[in-house]
Amino acid sequence: MSEAETKKSEGLSRRDFLRLMGAAGTGLAFAPFIPFGDYMPNPNQASLEKVPVILPDGSHANLNSYEINSAQVITYPATGDAALDAEAFRKWQFIRLPEELGGGKSDATSIRAYSMICLHLWCLWKYWPDDGRKRGECPCHGSMYDPLTGTAFVGPASLQAAPSDTLPELTLEVDSDGFVYILPPKFDANSNGVIGYGRFT
Ligand code: FES
Repeated sequence: MSEAETKKSEGLSRRDFLRLMGAAGTGLAFAPFIPFGDYMPNPNQASLEKVPVILPDGSHANLNSYEINSAQVITYPATGDAALDAEAFRKWQFIRLPEELGGGKSDATSIRAYSMICLHLWCLWKYWPDDGRKRGECPCHGSMYDPLTGTAFVGPASLQAAPSDTLPELTLEVDSDGFVYILPPKFDANSNGVIGYGRFT
């Protein structure tokens, strides 16, 4: 099999896996026995280069224009293959914190990028900037995530033992012109975390 064919078949099996897991919630009962490393982004598949944070409109994120107390979905690691890039395991909430949590600062302390896969049963959570919320919320069973730390503080994810109560996080860097970059991650629980599993704080 050529290298291109091998890559294609690996992509298909990963897609099949995600489709299966999405369709069959009961499959999660077997989650501990699945070799997640074969299916999730990991250092072997991720670019080891620093890459720009690209917003959904295709622009390079910049702190001079990225709204305080807001969030958008970013893709990491991006492959250029539309089907692979659509996988939930590559989606992150790129958050500019609210003013009261330091979102007004013009450095990397004002932003966060957390995996969108809820640590409970893998629904997709999102950040809600509304007054009285300003937190991540999962629509499935009500887990809520602290935007400052990525740790669940309400709902079933908050009852899980560490590291499965804290979302994986990308390390961000801001240059002198305000442009935001993702530094090469280490996807293990003691570093950037493991998508769908968690991160030690
Ligand atoms: S999947 Fe998010 S709270 Fe259950």
